Amino acid sequence: MYPRGREIVLGITGGISAYKSCDLLRRLQDLGFLITVVPTQSSLNFVGRSTWEALSGRQVPTDLWNNVHQVPHISLAKSADAIIIAPATADVMAKAAAGIADDLLTNIILAASVPLIFVPAMHTEMWNNAATQANVQLLRTRGHQVVEPDSGKLTSGDVGVGRYPQSSKIIDCLSATMRSRADLHGLSILISAGGTREAIDPVRYIGNHSSGRQGYALAYAAIVRGAKVTLVAANSALADIEGVETIHVTSALEMQAALMERFDQADVVIMSAAVADVRPANASAAKISKSDLTAISLTENPDITKELSKRKGNQIMIGFAAQTAVSLDEGLKLATTKLQEKGLDVIYFNDVSGGAIFGSDRTQGVILTAQGQKYEFADGPKMTLANKLLDLVLDKLG
Ligand code: CTP
Repeated sequence: MYPRGREIVLGITGGISAYKSCDLLRRLQDLGFLITVVPTQSSLNFVGRSTWEALSGRQVPTDLWNNVHQVPHISLAKSADAIIIAPATADVMAKAAAGIADDLLTNIILAASVPLIFVPAMHTEMWNNAATQANVQLLRTRGHQVVEPDSGKLTSGDVGVGRYPQSSKIIDCLSATMRSRADLHGLSILISAGGTREAIDPVRYIGNHSSGRQGYALAYAAIVRGAKVTLVAANSALADIEGVETIHVTSALEMQAALMERFDQADVVIMSAAVADVRPANASAAKISKSDLTAISLTENPDITKELSKRKGNQIMIGFAAQTAVSLDEGLKLATTKLQEKGLDVIYFNDVSGGAIFGSDRTQGVILTAQGQKYEFADGPKMTLANKLLDLVLDKLG
């Protein structure tokens, strides 16, 4: 399986803020994007080719006349799901507006039929120049994105508009752009994330180490790909995702109620939350004093996934199986049993021993389907796994 919607061409043009695109590249990689950097010759005066090669882990094409037999500008334009030009000089925007193609990057821009995102960064006078503004207007009229530069201190020491914006602003623009071309459009996806907390008293609880990262990655990937997403999040410190309806819950019972209420409207349900299997039988309304806290009697929580499965219509249901210190064979056997007993269509098995997965942006494990398919997921970003699971959903829907 290959993650769809993930290939980005990152064009770098000749501005001092080219170094800020190193951070942008890293942030995009954290989200599971695969990046080919295409710097212009003049930009290499600011950040060299080796930096881009090391950061992207890929060859860095700069010249139209290398590997001509592979027609690099056409193959790069076709393989990309989006093209970001950051920083974008007034010059590259003028060329794009006029249809001039005199180097590799401008040829790619001219050949591309995917979203183009320009991230201008330049001195205020150049940004405000009537020619630049006319070109920006023209690019926008043609459906391309031009991110508004920030205001603040510029390289010359002047203060004004023209600063390279925060990476997050560029990523928001990319997300919104890709959403409108997305392959999950029309699907309603319900996701649980985080770890539930079961009150012992008003101060203490039984909980687990789940950070919610996998569930949030799923929600982000699904919204970018055009789905309607509802996230039931338990105790995650992560920020809400724009466009995702997020319901914050604390305990397993609250999570169950929130999911049950929304289950019938969902086409896909993904249970990535770590649900506490038990809760204190009688949570105390007042803080229990240390001397009385010698034992906690427990009662079982409902298995939310099993309960949801009982109401299953056409929903595709995906679960997670976390194990520790088991052999791969044993782990897969346990995961297969969970898949069957919980009425799931897909389960992702991962060994969470030693805190290796909780709290991390990366994961590794095995995807199993009810039809007996098995896909290994070698160490990679949780966002990439999220996209692979969503690809599977699409395959299942035909
Ligand atoms: N799950 C659930 N309700 C529970 C416990 C787990 O819906 N009370 C879901 C989880 O969200 C996950 C899947 O079931 O998708 C497997 O969870 P896991 O903790 O691996 O398994 P358990 O069923 O809790 O079994 P065990 O703790 O014995 O491994």
